[in-house]
Amino acid sequence: MRLRHSYEVNPIPKLALYHLDETTSTNELAKRVAGKKDKDFVIWADKQTEGKGRKERSWISPEGGLYFSLCTSLSDLLSLKASVAVVRTLNRFDIKPELKWPNDVLVKGKKICGILTEIVDDDGIVGIGLNVEKAPLEDSISLSTLVEEKISRKILMKEIVREFYELEDSDVLEIYKEYCSTIGSRVKVKTVSEEIVGKVKDIDDKGRIVMESGKKITTGDVVHLRKDD
Ligand code: BTN
Repeated sequence: MRLRHSYEVNPIPKLALYHLDETTSTNELAKRVAGKKDKDFVIWADKQTEGKGRKERSWISPEGGLYFSLCTSLSDLLSLKASVAVVRTLNRFDIKPELKWPNDVLVKGKKICGILTEIVDDDGIVGIGLNVEKAPLEDSISLSTLVEEKISRKILMKEIVREFYELEDSDVLEIYKEYCSTIGSRVKVKTVSEEIVGKVKDIDDKGRIVMESGKKITTGDVVHLRKDD
């Protein structure tokens, strides 16, 4: 597949930007291209036929949504940094989202954006899917229901990428925590090996949740529980 440069919207001069009308998954494509192209680069598509979510789930990706993957150097807080970049972009529309660890961006309790970070050697592929015109699932919400004017997906992508590169790594954790509703919540966390129930005390400098028991969890699926659950 030939990747076309999309010069007109390049938010960061050193960043290569490729646009496709359609692809299977921008993350899959970015993983194939990583190492062959200079990083950093972005691949974005108008729709995906096999969009991927976390934990082998699929990400429904019809036209009207924003789907892109950023390939950049790997770092501990890469995926939290991407969440903060999305939060800051939404803030520009007077939207104050909530972050559910590790990477769900919610508005009014419904998911507006998901982030899937994958690793290829020393590159991180950060895939971002944002509901712009449609909310594909019942528990999801789209930007179009929150903002009156029609928002260009190109502009949104550009703003998220710009926010990402403008963020100082040293500020990421503090801003992330400010928006993260998982801290202080009683949760059920499913990891590959166990299920843990308890209250989340903090998020550490590696992006792990720290339970009240002191246990640190690097990756898992979190359900926020009600007090009586
Ligand atoms: C999740 O919440 O489960 C993560 C969803 C990530 C979806 C994005 S859309 C762009 C990129 N390409 C993919 O196939 N997935 C990510």
